[in-house]
Amino acid sequence: MRVQNCVDSGGKYCPCHLAYSNDCIRCNMLNSNNYCDCVWQGVCILSDINHNKHEKINQRKEYICDIVSIKEIYDETFLLKIKIPKNITKDLIKPGAYIMLKSKEKNSDIFNTPISVMDINDDILEVVIKVLGVKTKNITTTNKVIVKAPYFNGIFGLKEINTTKNENCVVMLSGLSQVNSVKVIKKLVESNNRVDVFVNYKGIVIKEVIDKIRNFGVNIYYFDFEKDLSTLKGHIKENNVTFVYSASSMIVSKILMDAIDSTNKNIKLSIANNNLICCGEGICGSCSIDINGEVYKTCKSQIDSRVFLKAKF
Ligand code: FES
Repeated sequence: MRVQNCVDSGGKYCPCHLAYSNDCIRCNMLNSNNYCDCVWQGVCILSDINHNKHEKINQRKEYICDIVSIKEIYDETFLLKIKIPKNITKDLIKPGAYIMLKSKEKNSDIFNTPISVMDINDDILEVVIKVLGVKTKNITTTNKVIVKAPYFNGIFGLKEINTTKNENCVVMLSGLSQVNSVKVIKKLVESNNRVDVFVNYKGIVIKEVIDKIRNFGVNIYYFDFEKDLSTLKGHIKENNVTFVYSASSMIVSKILMDAIDSTNKNIKLSIANNNLICCGEGICGSCSIDINGEVYKTCKSQIDSRVFLKAKF
């Protein structure tokens, strides 16, 4: 097994169940390889396990929360504002953070639904939910929900987002994935980047998302992704863009990646992680993807965006 870049490694939810069951994706001493080949990065999961042998695994907690407001913003698509405990707000404000959500009446883990965090205002969490089945229908017809959080791997390329400074950036919004662009754009603006946002107006455009990003002072351009991709390519070339974030479906991200690479393969690329997630803990395997013969759990593993898209399509 190849050592993977686990999003939880060294954090408060590490070591997790995978380390205790010898399935750790980050430490070869704690999986079937059983040898140490890590380059010391300030974290030794094996030593943490040895120190904490008799302590319980620190697991994410569930919180019963009130829905403050619910508004249908598109057909069967709802914006929910949920009052959450203050102690989880600082984790959920990070780019890529997501939650597991279920109705209080359906208090079974089979109803857990992974949902991207759109934004946090004080202790109010904002999420957008499209009703697709029993799980999501139940969430939009109640006034109390159970929030399990925080989860972190909603984006591939978090390092690129967190380290890009004083550069020219493009963010592309297409489809429901635009919801998780708010925190990314905020972070890029805070890091003194120039940010130009391209919105595919042929798909869903969420006014609430656009209003938020407009407040960050970024340039917003509306375009038709299928017809005007060359406009975006030209913009990237002419403006010396060095970082692109695709808040889009995976197939759109793949087409965008090919367009970027035909211009400059060195442009950093981060993408929304829309791969199927069920447990979010590396346990169930529903998010697994085969990359060059190695199994990666996309709910926990930070994978290079290009490597992921080439493996997927
Ligand atoms: S969602 Fe269960 S292993 Fe990733």
